[in-house]
Amino acid sequence: MATADQLKALIRSHLSDNDERFYTLALQVAAHEAQQGHGALAHEIREIVDKSRRARGGNVLLKFPQELAGMVISENPTTPLSALVLSEKLKERVNRIIQEYREQERLKSHGLSNRRKVLLAGPPGTGKTMTARVLAHELRLPLYTIQVDKLVTKFMGETSAKLRQIFDRIREEVGVYLFDEFDAIGGDRSLDNDVGEMRRVLNALLQFIEQDVSESVIVGATNNPILLDKALFRRFDDVLTFSLPEVDARRRLIENVLNGFKGRTVAWKAVLKASESLSHAEIDHACRDAIKLSILAHRKTVDSATLTKTLEERSHTHRR
Ligand SMILES: Nc1ncnc2c1ncn2[C@@H]1O[C@H](COP(=O)(O)OP(=O)(O)O)[C@@H](O)[C@H]1O
Ligand SMILES: [Mg+2]
Repeated sequence: MATADQLKALIRSHLSDNDERFYTLALQVAAHEAQQGHGALAHEIREIVDKSRRARGGNVLLKFPQELAGMVISENPTTPLSALVLSEKLKERVNRIIQEYREQERLKSHGLSNRRKVLLAGPPGTGKTMTARVLAHELRLPLYTIQVDKLVTKFMGETSAKLRQIFDRIREEVGVYLFDEFDAIGGDRSLDNDVGEMRRVLNALLQFIEQDVSESVIVGATNNPILLDKALFRRFDDVLTFSLPEVDARRRLIENVLNGFKGRTVAWKAVLKASESLSHAEIDHACRDAIKLSILAHRKTVDSATLTKTLEERSHTHRR
């Protein structure tokens, strides 16, 4: 369900006749629901918003044609850069993408183009998908996530036609386009029965990326960089390598997620030890588990013993 704050904000924006604010909030509720796994509800909310906006001649979050509908998810993310916990080096690289996009005209006047084809590589739960959301939010662009595994069909002709449609869109409609789980086609082809087929699909995608001259940002994400072809890396303006959080990143992440639930003192030594070798996503989960336990126990803050326990639970699940 929408949070109390979202409901109050919705009512306020409605009563003050602020339509744009109302639409934005409604889309935030949709994004929130989608995150909770309520895809159908999120879809319905977006439909209602789109329909009303269209009726008033406003901007519509672009919808993909029917053939692509099941393969592309559209959203207007609201994830701020400040929520993303990365090493200084990586943060600087993300910032550079944002800055070059914002200053593309100035770069163009010097015959240069902004970096806008990026590959994000690294283990699951380290913030690759989140980075695509942050990019979309910071650049005020819609995010279109292409589900690569669904794109690949048995028939090369069909896959090519779908790719062509997607890249036509990329040119026509500026946005952040995320090819998530890229390895679905870039993966170890020796494991595949139909090696030639996969290679053709991968090459077709690479060619489309290489030939793309749009203003959109194209993001590829993969958990399996080792399996990817060297040729793949060359088509991108930038390759960002994500990794499990170091000790200082873990501390920042825990502080962020606990937020108002952080106790006055934290037994950092034990907490940081318990969070060792966990991904950002696992730590995020463990913090939320600890918050829930504290709420149910009528405590105002999370104590370190509880947090250490939920972190250890995650690391056991993770090792199994
Ligand atoms: N670097 C990060 N900083 C803050 N939160 C993160 C980070 N990485 C992951 N998370 C949390 O875990 C969730 C899942 O991460 P995600 O971006 O989907 O990981 P990936 O795409 O690398 O598998 C995010 O929505 C966020 O709540
Ligand atoms: Mg992901």
